[in-house]
Amino acid sequence: MVKWAGKNQETLLCFLAVTILSSVSFLLFLDFLILGGRGGTTVVESVKLQFSSGWIASTHASTAATTPTVAESEKYYPFTRALASVENKSDPCGGKYIYVHDLPSRFNEDMLKECRSLSLWTNMCDFTTNGGLGPPLDNAEGVFSSTGWYATNQFTVDVIFGNRMKQYECLTRDSAIAAAVFVPFYAGFDVARYLWEQNVSTRDAASLDLVEWLTKTPEWTVMGGKDHFLVAGRITWDFRESVGFGIGLG
Ligand SMILES: *[C@@H]1O[C@H](CO)[C@@H](O)[C@H](O)[C@H]1NC(C)=O
Ligand SMILES: *[C@@H]1O[C@H](CO)[C@@H](O)[C@H](O)[C@H]1NC(C)=O
Repeated sequence: MVKWAGKNQETLLCFLAVTILSSVSFLLFLDFLILGGRGGTTVVESVKLQFSSGWIASTHASTAATTPTVAESEKYYPFTRALASVENKSDPCGGKYIYVHDLPSRFNEDMLKECRSLSLWTNMCDFTTNGGLGPPLDNAEGVFSSTGWYATNQFTVDVIFGNRMKQYECLTRDSAIAAAVFVPFYAGFDVARYLWEQNVSTRDAASLDLVEWLTKTPEWTVMGGKDHFLVAGRITWDFRESVGFGIGLG
């Protein structure tokens, strides 16, 4: 029984994280897509603010509202270099670097190979093409302009955002200078393929697998994952669950 309680708690935490992040990330995604380069800056500005406030809060807490001593202000944190890059005026990417986790393909690409199993009603294979934008829109009557129109499925945001991230101008392979860490897990597809699955172990397998993989990385230990984000293109209802019922039915 104890084992079950622990597992459920872990599952719940994981899904809470996914749910909250999906809402936030969807807004970020819109920002990226609609505002383009400017949106990218906005995303990282907000991350930068979080960094700054975290720094100030911890400095104040540790000195009980007195002026920090030199020794304390020089203290080294795992994110010290990331903070320093914010202040580096000669670096156009200072404070905007994003590190992308190199996840095993079972967390993303493999799901695309099994695109037929992603939805009970829709063959998603067409819609995962063109970087997730889907097939070009049929324009037989010439209603639309000749380029840039796609028959996009509402649930392919995971793929679209993942591909947009690959074009982000301030990616880094050095996670120590990153302002945020992107997790390219197709959480929306994962929940969709088991939406009506009654077996909890099957339903939660990939999420638990991801938690295990992520929590072992050095990037996770820096802030306990608070600087990580992912995108899930589903409604929050799909992520709710209770033991013994399908997701969304509990
Ligand atoms: C500031 O950024 C520039 C340009 O990327 C880099 O060459 C330099 O090493 C950075 N300075 C520090 C102190 O990290
Ligand atoms: C659920 O799935 C797992 C793994 O596929 C299996 O070992 C287990 O027996 C299943 N449980 C039930 C209640 O069917």
